[in-house]
Amino acid sequence: MKITIIGTGYVGLVTGACLAEIGHDVFCLDVDQRKIDILNNGGVPIHEPGLQEMIARLRAHGRITFSTDVKASVEHGEIQFIAVGTPPDEDGSADLQYVLEASRNIGRYMNGFKVIVDKSTVPVGTAERVRAVVADELAARGFGNSAQHSFSVVSNPEFLKEGAAVDDFMRPDRIVIGNDDDEAGLLAREKMKRLYAPFNRNHERTLYMDVRSAEFTKYAANAMLATRISFMNEMSNLADRVGADIEAVRRGIGSDPRIGYHFLYAGVGYGGSCFPKDVQALVRTASENGHRLRILEAVEDVNHEQKEVLVRKIERSLGQDLSGRTFAVWGLSFKPNTDDMREASSRRVIAALLARGAHVRAYDPVALDEARRVLALDLKETPDALTRVSFVTTQEEALAGADALVILTEWKEFKSPDFVSIKAALKSPVIFDGRNLYEPQAMAELGIDYYAIGRPH
Ligand code: UGA
Repeated sequence: MKITIIGTGYVGLVTGACLAEIGHDVFCLDVDQRKIDILNNGGVPIHEPGLQEMIARLRAHGRITFSTDVKASVEHGEIQFIAVGTPPDEDGSADLQYVLEASRNIGRYMNGFKVIVDKSTVPVGTAERVRAVVADELAARGFGNSAQHSFSVVSNPEFLKEGAAVDDFMRPDRIVIGNDDDEAGLLAREKMKRLYAPFNRNHERTLYMDVRSAEFTKYAANAMLATRISFMNEMSNLADRVGADIEAVRRGIGSDPRIGYHFLYAGVGYGGSCFPKDVQALVRTASENGHRLRILEAVEDVNHEQKEVLVRKIERSLGQDLSGRTFAVWGLSFKPNTDDMREASSRRVIAALLARGAHVRAYDPVALDEARRVLALDLKETPDALTRVSFVTTQEEALAGADALVILTEWKEFKSPDFVSIKAALKSPVIFDGRNLYEPQAMAELGIDYYAIGRPH
């Protein structure tokens, strides 16, 4: 089938590449010439395991095209995926200007039946706004609802995780499709069914529902996952106070199949481009509808505080004034296997350490460039603080002569380091671990002063 993907961010690129991989003819559009140039030169503007090789192969076979040509993109695909960004507005609601601009362009240039798919995470009711914008454009062109210029808007939210995006797309737990039940909606549903057929080979994974429920499902899923994390973070703070071990508690409760083991890890809070934004947007949607989502308000509050829980531990151990101290920081991205620094806890932790006078030597396996860029922006009001952070390219360089090691992302390479050389490199052997990577007992035996989240010290 001929597919157009509008927006070459995370979701757009992965969707485009994976659909081309299973044999579709994919046209990817972006308004950002720089991104298109990178893609046409064999690069990929994001770090995502497996994606670059896959796109290189697809380009060589002519199955995927990258372009800024809006008219050509609309004419290409009978299915038009809208996968542009929906950044949070100042009030927390999702900013739909890019989604609506994409819709306008579809209306302006469409030349036959189009299935318009909302792939970006968009608030309940967005499909209706997309439909109105496209219809307005068609009316301006003098086409009413002629069969030739008919269309239907479908909601097909994406559930992939950064760092495992290709795999998640290729092996989805479920595919959610929300369609209208009029004639065009049913035709759109048939086309979506054909499109995704290869993913349903062993058993049916597609869930069909109405458009609003599909839009809602995406937010409810992320809100539920964020709630689990904040719940565990709250439990970990209590575990610290009563002398329990959150890791034992996690195993104890996860064994109940109604709870399960996934997404129960206490840490330095959730970040990324989805949870913080989606929780906020849902709270906002609720308040616009005269309802308060008190649980989600608390989820946000807890997460905000959790990002500094390690700083509190550092202060209790080393005092409020950290001038003259140097911290080795391992892990900067919001989670492993990505260079994404959006809402990463490292930004808050590093800023807090610098504000208390400390020096920071930061290391990350892939996010150094991105970290340098965002921290320069975060700290532009405090240029003196910025001079006290340096970015280094090895774990060892970060450690040499530092007062303590602070771990903020659970990259695999941090899981079993050489503790003897860590001890030798640090001024005194202290680790503040925001991801609970090591066993407190083993650390004690090694003579390392080990502080984790909700675990015995
Ligand atoms: C999340 C969801 O997991 C995806 O299902 C969803 O499709 C995606 O958002 C989206 O809406 O696009 P992602 O943001 O890539 O995916 O990352 P996650 O792996 O979910 O991690 C989010 C944050 O939660 C990270 O900062 C991670 O460190 C934290 N986390 C996760 C915990 O603190 N504890 C856990 O047990 C799990």
